[in-house]
Amino acid sequence: MEESLSVGGARLSKTLGAGERLARRFSDHSAGLLELEVAAQIAGRWRTATMGIVFAVVPAALYLVAGLPVTGAGISIGTLVAFTALQAGIFRPVMGLLSVGVQVTASMALFSRIFEYLDLPVEVAEPDPAAARHLDPATARGELRLEGVGYRHPGADRDALTDVDLVVPAGSTVALVGSTGSGKSTLASLLTRLDDPTRGRVLLDGTDLRQLPSAERAAVVGVVSQETYLLHDTIRENLRLARPDATDEQLEQAARDAQIHDHVRSLPDGYDTVVGARGHRFSGGEQQRLALARTLLRDPQVLVLDEATSALDTRTEAAVQAALGRVGRGRTVVTIAHRLSTVRDADLVVVLDEGAVVEQGTHDDLLRRGGRYAALVAAGGVGPAAEGAPVALAA
Ligand SMILES: Nc1ncnc2c1ncn2[C@@H]1O[C@H](COP(=O)(O)OP(=O)(O)OP(=O)(O)O)[C@@H](O)[C@H]1O
Ligand SMILES: [Mg+2]
Repeated sequence: MEESLSVGGARLSKTLGAGERLARRFSDHSAGLLELEVAAQIAGRWRTATMGIVFAVVPAALYLVAGLPVTGAGISIGTLVAFTALQAGIFRPVMGLLSVGVQVTASMALFSRIFEYLDLPVEVAEPDPAAARHLDPATARGELRLEGVGYRHPGADRDALTDVDLVVPAGSTVALVGSTGSGKSTLASLLTRLDDPTRGRVLLDGTDLRQLPSAERAAVVGVVSQETYLLHDTIRENLRLARPDATDEQLEQAARDAQIHDHVRSLPDGYDTVVGARGHRFSGGEQQRLALARTLLRDPQVLVLDEATSALDTRTEAAVQAALGRVGRGRTVVTIAHRLSTVRDADLVVVLDEGAVVEQGTHDDLLRRGGRYAALVAAGGVGPAAEGAPVALAA
């Protein structure tokens, strides 16, 4: 239901002309579910049914046996009546027990699945309160440090990151570049502790992220991820999610910095416009800017931007970048971007290749060195989405 009847699923089926196939897939799944449901309802019922039959047949058989001239002599009418009356009395409790048995068996099956889930190891655990270290978001400097970090996605057969050593000084802007699949988003997910590194450690102001309570980390590190996710609610509520106590002025300022305020104001319902499931009533670039506004509203000391402006046209992007330049002053910014304009002004450019840092330095240094970065630039951009993006090649 979720896959085929959601906005995305319906669009997919229309654009691929796959409506019939998806409908068949749906009815196949439903048929399977039907069989399972019937089987689950029937399971264990044969016992109840057998007992029901026995209890129904026994009195009749007894009357028959008692009525036969040969055997009947020994059984008095009183015994016979008492027996059948008592049997009727015992019928209900026995049937009750049997159906409880069925329910218990069914519940056991459910419980074993629930416990299997609850027993899964916690991948990203809160620190033990006794061992936790604390960081006051108001005084955090925002220095990030990766020490010998390696990461392998669960189930993957090779490391997405190998031995990454990196220092992002407090207040600096670092651009991560590299071809598609080189591990940029993976690195971003470690900085925000969506995952813990398989090897090595990630430090924020000298504290291992694993020792920081997640609320404190989230107050310091804000992220705009590659895939935006908006709730089916009003723009106001979507933004407030980041900071429930934000005033309307703060909300609008964040939207202005993300270059989305004017657009929102031009809508008939303004900030009370409902964005639609997953934000489908807004264009890709508008969704990105809403996601950016949401993160800016949090006012975090460290900003991690994973292709946060990739869907914007160059002029809007330049405006967002200018605003980010203002907002980002004094903050640590880790930006993953493919457009040269974004990367050029970074204090440090870090080039990733197959999960390893292969080069780092300023834009000018790296161009002069004529290595991997220079090759990326010469090829027309520094990242995967560069095709077609206007790139100024002048260093
Ligand atoms: N959840 C996952 N499970 C298994 N492998 C994954 C998972 N996510 C990413 N990978 C793999 O890890 C590698 C790095 O992925 P990552 O998303 O970090 O790349 P990226 O540099 O952000 O690429 P892009 O520029 O396309 O966004 C890729 O080879 C990818 O296939
Ligand atoms: Mg990515």
